[in-house]
Amino acid sequence: MEIIVRETAQEMSKTAARVVARLLNSKPDAVIGLATGSTPLGLYQELVRMHKEEGLDFSQATTFNLDEYVGLTQQHPQSYHYFMHENLFKHINIAKQNIYIPSGTTDNYQAFCEWYEKRIEDCGGIDLQILGIGSDGHIAFNEPSSSLGSRTRIKTLARQTIEDNARFFDSLDQVPIYAITMGVGTILEARKIILLANGQKKAAAVAAAVEGPVTSMITASALQLHRDAMCIVDRGAASELKMLDYYQWIQAKMPDAP
Ligand code: PGA
Repeated sequence: MEIIVRETAQEMSKTAARVVARLLNSKPDAVIGLATGSTPLGLYQELVRMHKEEGLDFSQATTFNLDEYVGLTQQHPQSYHYFMHENLFKHINIAKQNIYIPSGTTDNYQAFCEWYEKRIEDCGGIDLQILGIGSDGHIAFNEPSSSLGSRTRIKTLARQTIEDNARFFDSLDQVPIYAITMGVGTILEARKIILLANGQKKAAAVAAAVEGPVTSMITASALQLHRDAMCIVDRGAASELKMLDYYQWIQAKMPDAP
């Protein structure tokens, strides 16, 4: 995994935005996998700025979101549909029909999950997948013990995740217990992956994902098996990395590499 450490969360977001922009400029009809949560907010703000000020063009792009809460309608302020619309889609020139987000209200989840996987495939697969990481080491809603070969399906959220996400709801009992999520196997098929993490509270999860064993108990550790995964973190999230000096040495020496 390529580990990139930035001083601040804002610099982390800008670095990730440059990777997205480079992809869109070289492949305007790229397929991009998107994440929700507080971590990618700065990235989305930077992409909106690049769209408005630098003409970054999303008109031919397709997006697939990682997950959605089961039971929340698209209009629910805590649904990921609403989050994506408010924080990214309504500010850029993406075509509505090219936006895919798992449904939290379908009456046939199994059929929907199969259709979602098929749509990703029919669109040519995901070129670049953006990920956050949960404090329990999850990617998307692939909680500890999720199969590293898993596909899009319903997951029961871990208590830790429900507690972490309660800050967005009026009370703990309003946080949905189930989610529909891309699997670890789905994510690993993306051609390129960026894992983002900021803040001290993610430091243990990042260290386990990057330097620990590959284990379904930390589903982000499966990224160690991917041939083109980047982990972009701020100082806080990097603070428990044992080999931090080495990762920075690699970055410093990269421009001169033969
Ligand atoms: P956060 O969530 O960005 O809100 O910390 C990340 C995650 O749970 O994947």
